[in-house]
Amino acid sequence: VKRVLIRKPGDHRVLEVVEEPTPAVAAGQVRVQVRASGVNFADCIVRMGYYEAAKGLYPMSPGFEFSGIVDAVGHGVRGLREGDAVFGLTRFGGYASEIVVPADQLWPLPAGWSHSDGAAFPAVFLTAYYGLHRAARVFKDETVLVHSAAGGAGAAFAQLARIHGCRVAGVVGSASKRAYAEACGSDPVIVRSEGQMWPELERFAPHGFDAIFDANGVTTLQEGYRRLRPGGRLVCYGFAEILTRGATGPGLRSLVNYLRVPTFSPLKLTGDNKGVLGFNVIYLFDQMALAREAIDQILGWIAEGRIRKAPVSEFKLEDAAAAHAALESGTTQGKLVLTSGG
Ligand SMILES: NC(=O)c1ccc[n+]([C@@H]2O[C@H](COP(=O)([O-])OP(=O)(O)OC[C@H]3O[C@@H](n4cnc5c(N)ncnc54)[C@H](OP(=O)(O)O)[C@@H]3O)[C@@H](O)[C@H]2O)c1
Repeated sequence: VKRVLIRKPGDHRVLEVVEEPTPAVAAGQVRVQVRASGVNFADCIVRMGYYEAAKGLYPMSPGFEFSGIVDAVGHGVRGLREGDAVFGLTRFGGYASEIVVPADQLWPLPAGWSHSDGAAFPAVFLTAYYGLHRAARVFKDETVLVHSAAGGAGAAFAQLARIHGCRVAGVVGSASKRAYAEACGSDPVIVRSEGQMWPELERFAPHGFDAIFDANGVTTLQEGYRRLRPGGRLVCYGFAEILTRGATGPGLRSLVNYLRVPTFSPLKLTGDNKGVLGFNVIYLFDQMALAREAIDQILGWIAEGRIRKAPVSEFKLEDAAAAHAALESGTTQGKLVLTSGG
């Protein structure tokens, strides 16, 4: 098995490809020959050594999601056979050509989907599902704002919010992302670099937003909070802006940005009747029943043709560094995957 290993956190050079013996399969587990591994912004944070849940785990491999072919099935596993095409979730270790996971972290690959489509899907859709239905608990006809609406997670937020019957405004960093954000259901799509973001958002939602989904984490939180209507929820789920775009790790500017992350007083929240929430889906690995409920629901929408596949940029497993560089540039849209084998 080929695996991308991080011995010690750092820049792109720490993503080392190693060869290891094929992992054995225990009862309740399944081994999958991985064809594609999804790349998430969180993997870059893991590589840099700042991802809370990865602290103390090095040497380790990043990666939360993959798609491939079942290769071996452990004792007691029902419903999966050698040769089945599956996609799955893993608490790290997804950047590998073979992986062993508990059977309840796998689902059949939807008909007509490539392995790259399958690997590009579960983490961001689970994030969006959790953010919308467990954190913010949005209702039909509510007005929501999604930042980075052409990114992996943002596009999933917009799609699921629309399926739920919400009105969705999406913000993107550059005009080249507009068409994909529109295709995912954001209407209007506002291009941040054109400089009229808040006035345009106020025109769309003159009474304020019911929910805002923000993984920028620095410049937009305070302004977003101000544009919540009473009862509105600001959901923070990432802090990409702490890093400088294109940087392979935090520098002095990041420290400044870290210190600029706003705090919200409970006194003010109560007086304003507004909520500020944070969440991280990594903790769903301790609640797989909830993750399964979410993915099963989303698979239903896929079967009904209501979910648009992400445009996928493919990199070879050996080129994980190039994939990280692309994601850190802030210019990608849709998803990135690492391909292996096959
Ligand atoms: N809490 C959770 O459970 C959870 C789960 C999944 C993802 N996340 C978070 O959600 C965010 C998106 O993740 P993703 O994997 O789907 O990535 P992505 O959105 O596909 O790519 C990141 C996007 O963030 C924006 N961005 C803002 N500041 C940036 C910076 N300094 N460097 C690079 N990009 C920057 C850019 O879009 P625009 O310029 O268009 O805004 C960029 O395209 C990340 O912050 C990630 O940590 C959190």
